[in-house]
Amino acid sequence: MNKKLFPSIAFGLLGVIVAGGAISSCVKSVAGGDDKDNVEARIEALLSQMTIEEKIGQLNQLTGTGANPQRLAEVRNGFVGSLLNEVDPDTVNKLQREAVENSRLGIPLIVARDVIHGFKTIFPIPLGQASSWDPALIEEGARVAADEASSVGVRWTFSPMVDVSRDARWGRIAESFGEDPYLASTLGVAMVKGYQGEDMTQPNTMAACVKHFVGYGASEGGKDYNTTWIPEPHLRDVYLPPFHACADAGAATFMCSFNDINGMPTNADTHLMRDILRDEWGWDGVMCSDWNSIGQLVPQGYSADLKDAAEAAAKAGVDVDMMSYAYVSHMKDLVEQGKVSEKTLDDLVRNVLRLKFRLGLFENPYVDTANARRFYTEGNLAAAQHAAEQSAILLKNEGGVLPLKPGVRVALTGPMMDAKHDQNGTWSFDAEKEHTVTVLDAFNDMYGKDKVVAAPGLTYSRDTDKAGIAQAVVKARTADVIVFVCGEEAVLSGEAHCRTDLTLPGAQKEMLKALKATGKPVVSVVMTGRPMEINDVVANSDAILYCFHPGTMGGPAIANVLSGSVNPSGHLPAGIPRASAQAPLYYSHKNTGRPAEGMVLMDELPQEAGQTSTGCTSFYMDCGDGALYPFGYGLSYTDFSYGPVVLSTDKMDAKDGSIRATCEIENTGSVKGATVAQLYVRDVVGSLCRPVKELKGFEKIELAPGEKRTVSFTLTPDDLAFHNARSERVTEPGEFRVWIAQDSASGESKSFTVE
Ligand code: BGC
Repeated sequence: MNKKLFPSIAFGLLGVIVAGGAISSCVKSVAGGDDKDNVEARIEALLSQMTIEEKIGQLNQLTGTGANPQRLAEVRNGFVGSLLNEVDPDTVNKLQREAVENSRLGIPLIVARDVIHGFKTIFPIPLGQASSWDPALIEEGARVAADEASSVGVRWTFSPMVDVSRDARWGRIAESFGEDPYLASTLGVAMVKGYQGEDMTQPNTMAACVKHFVGYGASEGGKDYNTTWIPEPHLRDVYLPPFHACADAGAATFMCSFNDINGMPTNADTHLMRDILRDEWGWDGVMCSDWNSIGQLVPQGYSADLKDAAEAAAKAGVDVDMMSYAYVSHMKDLVEQGKVSEKTLDDLVRNVLRLKFRLGLFENPYVDTANARRFYTEGNLAAAQHAAEQSAILLKNEGGVLPLKPGVRVALTGPMMDAKHDQNGTWSFDAEKEHTVTVLDAFNDMYGKDKVVAAPGLTYSRDTDKAGIAQAVVKARTADVIVFVCGEEAVLSGEAHCRTDLTLPGAQKEMLKALKATGKPVVSVVMTGRPMEINDVVANSDAILYCFHPGTMGGPAIANVLSGSVNPSGHLPAGIPRASAQAPLYYSHKNTGRPAEGMVLMDELPQEAGQTSTGCTSFYMDCGDGALYPFGYGLSYTDFSYGPVVLSTDKMDAKDGSIRATCEIENTGSVKGATVAQLYVRDVVGSLCRPVKELKGFEKIELAPGEKRTVSFTLTPDDLAFHNARSERVTEPGEFRVWIAQDSASGESKSFTVE
């Protein structure tokens, strides 16, 4: 890739300006060297034969309507270049045949789909997969998804979503990798690698689409599609890094977001899409609009009409118009009137043709029907189950109630215990619920149907009809331990499904109280699409296993974790709030001038207390400060002790120095288990206020009882860099603190200085 990152390395008063900032990756450029030249030559040869209508058609993406006569004519005439939402291999082949054999230039179509966390075999939602903190597992999940989806002809998925998401009200947090840019970068790259493979011309790969460029997770108030306010240094430190990392990893496509940033809609933002993405990062993939997001420039109040919107988007560098018909309706006029140059149009078309070459569609346009519909293989189901097991997060385990003791009599209850549809979570368009294995199915299988005492109590998460609760309680009384599977249905998270009250919906809170009143130990399994406010769950449960919607094999995965055949090792990719109204909530906040200390909560204040009675520090009077369970948190059935952080030196050269931070970790418990060692750094004094902690590395390690291992991380000036007030990436001299810990709120730091 042609990289023109940041200017030269300069050493100034403010520190060292460093290039880069993305996580490096070993993925090859999708077409490098000779291949690349060859592809570029083929693009030019094709482009020179295209009419303006054919060029514009390549930019037009429409949703599937089947292979009906009208659609076949559109394909034949070159009116459309890509289709989304066609998932029948025979239909895909029919449409493709029309493009390849009957259109003037024989340019193949690309078929796209939202394959977000699996195609048929559904993996945990991305927030769940992120809880595994295991890039290899995420890569494998994407590989399975690509194999299944490509077997019906889908060669382009609109995933991964790498929007840093710090607001649990925002329903799309479910589709994200959580609140941290480093975690989202690492996992986003893994997903891209999984979809695209080593060689994207292989017919069982898909082009990834890294979305939504950019800042969408900052939607004001956690309300979808809302405006965002993001100063450029913050954009570059928090929201852009995952995109940069994926661009460097060879991600073939990006999607622009629905929001505006500081009043500028991303679909018209030349600075983002040309200056940063193309010129600084040297990326040569396809920028796709979101669904009608070009058209939405009109209601956003940026463009007067659809023609104006088409002009703005084309100039800013949106290559593909998904479903707003702006380009097909107006581009020809815009070019003829000189408002959009022919060169601009040609560049957009080049990007689309490049993708088609990179996918090998000219050589291999059709689905191999003899080998189509490769779904639910044993290996795919096992991978999905493994992902769900590794994603389960143990938040509480009082009195060692978990794992369930052999022979113990379990009462299974709660609205999510047998929720075949809902445990698949949002964006599982192609899931078939008859293939979903629920917790009830798994318990029946594990213990025998006649031994499992089960009653849901409520039929779905929002159910307020309490009639069934009494029966569930009666059954619970006959058992030794209660497993309450609660949470929120799939439809309560995802796009346009935002909430302000993040507590358990329906009558679940009351039901849980009734279960607790039996005096039996209660294990709550919380299945949701977001971090919820779970104070009631904490108060009324002895143990809590938090499982973001776990997918097809969620049931067996959860049963294995509860029974102890799998030791939980998931860690939170986003903090669990103390109160819904804390959103946005993130560990990597600024310190403020009055960090929370000496908190006096409102219940402790006497009547007519004085104005300054709370101590005047930064917290809420009713819930205090910080997360209830912080980013990175997760328990195990064993215990780990983390030794002190040892630094290889206490000084780092700001230009080309490095420092090694190590820590000895021991499994001090009695069973094998995995812990996620997390490396955090704080830049104590900066030319802009710096976050109290930032994740800079992590490693998941498995240890046998009594086993010790030393984890080691190397930090370079680049890892310590941030964007200053002039948006320059700098590593500033001064004191830095380092932690290696089990979560973002624990551990002791060591200091070093950058000089
Ligand atoms: C979503 C995208 C999605 C697209 C296509 C939009 O509404 O924002 O994430 O890929 O639809 O279905």
